Amino acid sequence: MLAIIGGSGLTTLDGLTLLESLNVETPYGATSAPIEKGVFAGRDVYFLARHGKNHGFAPHEVNYRANLWALESLGVTAIIGVNAVGGISAEMGPESIVIPDQLIDYTWGRESSFSSVGDVIHADFTFPYTQSLREQLLATAKEIELSVFSQGVYGVTQGPRLETAAEINKLEKDGCDIVGMTAMPEAILARELDLEYVNLSLVVNMAAGRSEGVITMDEIYRVLDIGMIHIRRLIAEAIKRIL
Ligand code: HPA
Repeated sequence: MLAIIGGSGLTTLDGLTLLESLNVETPYGATSAPIEKGVFAGRDVYFLARHGKNHGFAPHEVNYRANLWALESLGVTAIIGVNAVGGISAEMGPESIVIPDQLIDYTWGRESSFSSVGDVIHADFTFPYTQSLREQLLATAKEIELSVFSQGVYGVTQGPRLETAAEINKLEKDGCDIVGMTAMPEAILARELDLEYVNLSLVVNMAAGRSEGVITMDEIYRVLDIGMIHIRRLIAEAIKRIL
Protein backbone atom coordinates (compact mmCIF):
# COMPACT_ATOMS: atom_id res chain seq x y z
CA MET A 1 0.00 0.00 0.00
CA LEU A 2 1.20 3.47 -0.93
CA ALA A 3 1.14 6.60 1.23
CA ILE A 4 1.65 10.19 0.23
CA ILE A 5 2.97 12.64 2.80
CA GLY A 6 2.08 16.15 1.67
CA GLY A 7 4.00 19.22 2.73
CA SER A 8 3.36 22.94 2.35
CA GLY A 9 0.87 23.47 -0.46
CA LEU A 10 -0.34 19.88 -0.28
CA THR A 11 -2.32 19.66 2.95
CA THR A 12 -5.22 18.06 1.09
CA LEU A 13 -5.00 15.77 -1.88
CA ASP A 14 -7.46 17.04 -4.49
CA GLY A 15 -8.91 14.08 -6.32
CA LEU A 16 -8.79 11.79 -3.27
CA THR A 17 -12.11 10.08 -2.65
CA LEU A 18 -12.06 9.85 1.11
CA LEU A 19 -13.11 6.51 2.58
CA GLU A 20 -11.98 6.89 6.15
CA SER A 21 -10.13 9.30 8.41
CA LEU A 22 -7.98 7.43 10.90
CA ASN A 23 -6.60 8.50 14.26
CA VAL A 24 -3.81 6.03 14.88
CA GLU A 25 -2.42 5.57 18.39
CA THR A 26 1.37 5.33 18.38
CA PRO A 27 4.01 4.87 21.09
CA TYR A 28 5.29 8.31 20.07
CA GLY A 29 2.03 10.23 20.40
CA ALA A 30 -0.27 11.64 17.78
CA THR A 31 0.36 11.94 14.06
CA SER A 32 0.39 15.42 12.50
CA ALA A 33 -3.20 14.91 11.36
CA PRO A 34 -5.63 12.03 10.97
CA ILE A 35 -4.45 9.69 8.22
CA GLU A 36 -6.84 9.74 5.28
CA LYS A 37 -7.60 6.49 3.57
CA GLY A 38 -9.04 6.93 0.12
CA VAL A 39 -8.94 6.23 -3.57
CA PHE A 40 -6.72 8.35 -5.77
CA ALA A 41 -6.33 7.74 -9.49
CA GLY A 42 -8.12 4.43 -9.05
CA ARG A 43 -5.81 3.13 -6.33
CA ASP A 44 -6.20 2.78 -2.60
CA VAL A 45 -3.80 5.17 -0.88
CA TYR A 46 -3.18 6.80 2.44
CA PHE A 47 -2.60 10.53 2.69
CA LEU A 48 -1.05 12.43 5.59
CA ALA A 49 -0.57 16.19 5.90
CA ARG A 50 2.92 16.52 7.36
CA HIS A 51 2.36 19.89 8.99
CA GLY A 52 -1.21 19.12 10.08
CA LYS A 53 -4.40 20.09 8.33
CA ASN A 54 -4.05 23.75 9.22
CA HIS A 55 -0.30 23.85 8.84
CA GLY A 56 0.00 23.93 12.63
CA PHE A 57 3.38 22.20 13.02
CA ALA A 58 6.63 23.92 12.05
CA PRO A 59 9.24 21.64 10.44
CA HIS A 60 11.06 21.03 13.75
CA GLU A 61 7.78 20.34 15.56
CA VAL A 62 6.46 17.63 13.26
CA ASN A 63 6.13 14.28 15.03
CA TYR A 64 7.96 12.35 12.31
CA ARG A 65 8.23 9.19 14.38
CA ALA A 66 4.50 9.02 15.03
CA ASN A 67 3.77 9.71 11.36
CA LEU A 68 6.04 6.97 10.04
CA TRP A 69 5.15 4.45 12.73
CA ALA A 70 1.42 4.96 12.11
CA LEU A 71 1.75 4.53 8.35
CA GLU A 72 3.73 1.35 8.78
CA SER A 73 1.20 -0.01 11.26
CA LEU A 74 -1.52 0.45 8.60
CA GLY A 75 0.39 -1.75 6.17
CA VAL A 76 2.06 0.97 4.12
CA THR A 77 5.11 -0.29 2.24
CA ALA A 78 5.98 2.70 0.05
CA ILE A 79 5.87 6.45 0.61
CA ILE A 80 6.09 9.48 -1.63
CA GLY A 81 7.17 12.47 0.46
CA VAL A 82 6.32 15.81 -1.15
CA ASN A 83 8.33 18.87 -0.15
CA ALA A 84 8.46 22.55 -1.05
CA VAL A 85 12.07 23.73 -1.30
CA GLY A 86 14.34 26.61 -2.26
CA GLY A 87 16.55 26.34 -5.32
CA ILE A 88 20.31 26.71 -4.86
CA SER A 89 21.52 25.56 -8.29
CA ALA A 90 20.81 28.31 -10.80
CA GLU A 91 19.08 25.83 -13.10
CA MET A 92 16.61 24.77 -10.39
CA GLY A 93 14.41 27.85 -10.45
CA PRO A 94 10.86 28.28 -9.14
CA GLU A 95 8.37 25.66 -10.41
CA SER A 96 11.15 23.13 -11.02
CA ILE A 97 10.41 19.61 -9.85
CA VAL A 98 13.35 17.67 -8.44
CA ILE A 99 13.57 13.99 -7.54
CA PRO A 100 16.67 14.12 -5.35
CA ASP A 101 19.03 11.19 -5.07
CA GLN A 102 20.96 12.42 -2.04
CA LEU A 103 20.60 14.59 1.03
CA ILE A 104 22.72 16.30 3.66
CA ASP A 105 21.16 16.65 7.09
CA TYR A 106 21.81 19.93 8.94
CA THR A 107 18.91 19.54 11.36
CA TRP A 108 19.45 19.15 15.09
CA GLY A 109 17.45 18.13 18.14
CA ARG A 110 14.81 16.17 16.23
CA GLU A 111 13.80 12.68 17.28
CA SER A 112 15.45 10.93 14.38
CA SER A 113 15.52 7.23 15.19
CA PHE A 114 13.35 4.41 16.46
CA SER A 115 16.41 3.11 18.32
CA SER A 116 15.90 2.50 21.98
CA VAL A 117 18.25 1.60 24.80
CA GLY A 118 19.62 -1.87 24.14
CA ASP A 119 18.22 -1.88 20.63
CA VAL A 120 20.34 0.48 18.58
CA ILE A 121 19.72 0.65 14.85
CA HIS A 122 22.57 1.59 12.48
CA ALA A 123 20.61 1.67 9.25
CA ASP A 124 22.50 1.84 5.96
CA PHE A 125 21.72 5.22 4.42
CA THR A 126 24.23 5.35 1.57
CA PHE A 127 21.38 5.93 -0.85
CA PRO A 128 18.64 7.66 1.14
CA TYR A 129 15.90 7.26 -1.47
CA THR A 130 14.57 4.05 -2.97
CA GLN A 131 16.04 3.86 -6.45
CA SER A 132 13.21 1.80 -7.98
CA LEU A 133 10.62 4.37 -6.87
CA ARG A 134 12.77 7.19 -8.23
CA GLU A 135 13.01 5.42 -11.56
CA GLN A 136 9.28 4.82 -11.68
CA LEU A 137 8.54 8.49 -11.08
CA LEU A 138 11.13 9.53 -13.65
CA ALA A 139 9.75 7.16 -16.27
CA THR A 140 6.23 8.47 -15.64
CA ALA A 141 7.39 12.09 -15.91
CA LYS A 142 8.96 11.26 -19.25
CA GLU A 143 5.80 9.59 -20.50
CA ILE A 144 3.58 12.53 -19.59
CA GLU A 145 6.22 14.98 -20.85
CA LEU A 146 6.66 16.68 -17.52
CA SER A 147 10.10 18.14 -17.09
CA VAL A 148 11.81 17.06 -13.86
CA PHE A 149 15.37 17.03 -12.54
CA SER A 150 16.39 13.42 -12.19
CA GLN A 151 18.85 13.98 -9.38
CA GLY A 152 19.95 16.52 -6.83
CA VAL A 153 21.23 16.91 -3.31
CA TYR A 154 18.65 18.12 -0.78
CA GLY A 155 20.16 20.12 2.12
CA VAL A 156 17.86 19.81 5.13
CA THR A 157 17.96 22.86 7.41
CA GLN A 158 16.40 23.27 10.82
CA GLY A 159 14.13 26.24 10.15
CA PRO A 160 11.64 27.54 10.68
CA ARG A 161 13.54 30.62 9.58
CA LEU A 162 14.93 30.75 6.08
CA GLU A 163 18.70 30.72 5.61
CA THR A 164 21.19 33.56 5.33
CA ALA A 165 22.90 34.14 1.99
CA ALA A 166 26.17 32.95 3.55
CA GLU A 167 24.55 29.74 4.75
CA ILE A 168 23.30 29.08 1.24
CA ASN A 169 26.83 29.64 -0.11
CA LYS A 170 28.09 27.08 2.39
CA LEU A 171 25.37 24.60 1.40
CA GLU A 172 26.32 25.05 -2.24
CA LYS A 173 29.98 24.37 -1.44
CA ASP A 174 28.82 21.23 0.33
CA GLY A 175 27.12 20.15 -2.88
CA CYS A 176 23.48 20.96 -2.14
CA ASP A 177 21.23 21.79 -5.09
CA ILE A 178 18.04 22.48 -3.16
CA VAL A 179 17.23 23.40 0.43
CA GLY A 180 14.24 22.54 2.58
CA MET A 181 13.35 21.76 6.17
CA THR A 182 11.40 18.52 6.21
CA ALA A 183 13.23 15.79 4.32
CA MET A 184 14.79 14.60 7.57
CA PRO A 185 14.27 12.68 9.73
CA GLU A 186 11.39 11.41 7.57
CA ALA A 187 13.67 9.58 5.14
CA ILE A 188 15.77 7.80 7.77
CA LEU A 189 12.73 6.78 9.81
CA ALA A 190 11.24 5.22 6.67
CA ARG A 191 14.53 3.39 6.12
CA GLU A 192 14.62 2.13 9.71
CA LEU A 193 11.15 0.67 9.16
CA ASP A 194 12.22 -0.83 5.82
CA LEU A 195 9.73 1.25 3.89
CA GLU A 196 10.37 2.31 0.31
CA TYR A 197 10.61 6.08 0.25
CA VAL A 198 11.03 8.70 -2.44
CA ASN A 199 11.16 12.49 -2.28
CA LEU A 200 9.37 14.73 -4.73
CA SER A 201 10.46 18.34 -4.32
CA LEU A 202 8.91 21.45 -5.79
CA VAL A 203 11.13 24.53 -5.95
CA VAL A 204 9.03 27.47 -4.74
CA ASN A 205 11.70 30.18 -4.49
CA MET A 206 15.35 30.81 -5.20
CA ALA A 207 17.29 30.27 -1.98
CA ALA A 208 18.54 33.23 0.06
CA GLY A 209 20.92 35.47 -1.86
CA ARG A 210 20.20 33.74 -5.18
CA SER A 211 17.72 36.29 -6.46
CA GLU A 212 17.18 40.03 -6.25
CA GLY A 213 15.67 41.08 -2.94
CA VAL A 214 14.20 38.99 -0.19
CA ILE A 215 12.05 35.87 -0.19
CA THR A 216 8.35 36.61 0.21
CA MET A 217 5.61 34.20 1.25
CA ASP A 218 3.33 35.71 -1.40
CA GLU A 219 5.66 34.55 -4.10
CA ILE A 220 6.07 31.13 -2.48
CA TYR A 221 2.30 30.59 -2.28
CA ARG A 222 1.85 31.67 -5.89
CA VAL A 223 4.38 29.09 -7.08
CA LEU A 224 3.00 26.41 -4.74
CA ASP A 225 -0.45 26.73 -6.30
CA ILE A 226 0.83 26.26 -9.82
CA GLY A 227 3.49 23.67 -9.03
CA MET A 228 1.34 21.35 -6.95
CA ILE A 229 -0.95 20.84 -9.96
CA HIS A 230 2.00 19.23 -11.75
CA ILE A 231 3.04 17.26 -8.67
CA ARG A 232 -0.48 15.86 -8.28
CA ARG A 233 -0.61 14.89 -11.93
CA LEU A 234 2.74 13.16 -11.72
CA ILE A 235 1.67 11.18 -8.65
CA ALA A 236 -1.69 10.26 -10.20
CA GLU A 237 -0.09 9.02 -13.39
CA ALA A 238 2.67 7.22 -11.53
CA ILE A 239 0.35 5.31 -9.24
CA LYS A 240 -1.81 4.21 -12.17
CA ARG A 241 1.26 2.64 -13.74
CA ILE A 242 3.29 1.42 -10.83
CA LEU A 243 3.44 1.34 -7.08
N1 HPA B 1 14.86 27.34 2.45
C1 HPA B 1 14.45 26.34 3.26
N2 HPA B 1 13.27 25.75 3.15
C2 HPA B 1 12.47 26.16 2.17
C3 HPA B 1 12.82 27.19 1.29
C4 HPA B 1 14.09 27.81 1.44
O1 HPA B 1 14.48 28.74 0.69
N3 HPA B 1 11.77 27.38 0.45
C5 HPA B 1 10.83 26.46 0.80
N4 HPA B 1 11.24 25.73 1.84
